[in-house]
Amino acid sequence: MNALSPPNSLKILVILGSTREGRYSEKPARWILGQLNGAPGINAELVDLRDWPLPFFNAPVSPSWSSGPPSDPLVAAWSAKIASADGFVLVAPEYNHGYTAVLKNALDWLYREWNQKPVAFVSYGGVGGARAVEQLRQVAVELKMAPTRTAVHVPAEVFMATMKATLPEAAETYSATPWVKDAANNIIAELTWWGHALRAARQQVAA
Ligand SMILES: Cc1cc2nc3c(=O)[nH]c(=O)nc-3n(C[C@H](O)[C@H](O)[C@H](O)COP(=O)(O)O)c2cc1C
Repeated sequence: MNALSPPNSLKILVILGSTREGRYSEKPARWILGQLNGAPGINAELVDLRDWPLPFFNAPVSPSWSSGPPSDPLVAAWSAKIASADGFVLVAPEYNHGYTAVLKNALDWLYREWNQKPVAFVSYGGVGGARAVEQLRQVAVELKMAPTRTAVHVPAEVFMATMKATLPEAAETYSATPWVKDAANNIIAELTWWGHALRAARQQVAA
């Protein structure tokens, strides 16, 4: 959280979508968090799914059909967390040409809390995580989210070069890679535009 953020700042949650031991995802996640918090009018926070051990989805009906609060206390807290945000960055590794199961589970638990909010993606892997991100875009639309055109795809050579790097070393490499840095700037611009437009629309419709 950025204590100096103006009151109309956008609250963007960076959701870290890999929980495995030795995960790489923390490097791009913490880097994009820093990029977001360096942008005017954005208040970004890291949401690590390791801190949210949600049960494997077992609700009797889809959250898009139910209106009551979730009965599981952790899911209820997850609902409040997501409801509090204006937009999201999903950090999504590519597992078997898809995205991670832990991320899908976290998405499936909610519906309205995601609705009418922008979402951007950060990925990496053999093809920069492109296949995982393209699948996530379809899921995002079903959750009535607005996926940004741009995503950060850390190219394979940068991914390999930073695999054993420390967080600051990796951050330096991402910032020095025009393809990655430019994409980060673009997702920040798109999240800002959509974030304000959709927040205003949500408030107007709710009023
Ligand atoms: C189960 C599994 C499946 C994978 N499948 C792919 C894949 O389809 N494409 C790819 O580029 N990398 C794949 N990889 C390699 C991952 O890109 C690499 O392990 C990366 O570090 C995973 O992200 P994480 O460390 O944040 O979990 C896979 C890794 C795992 C563990």
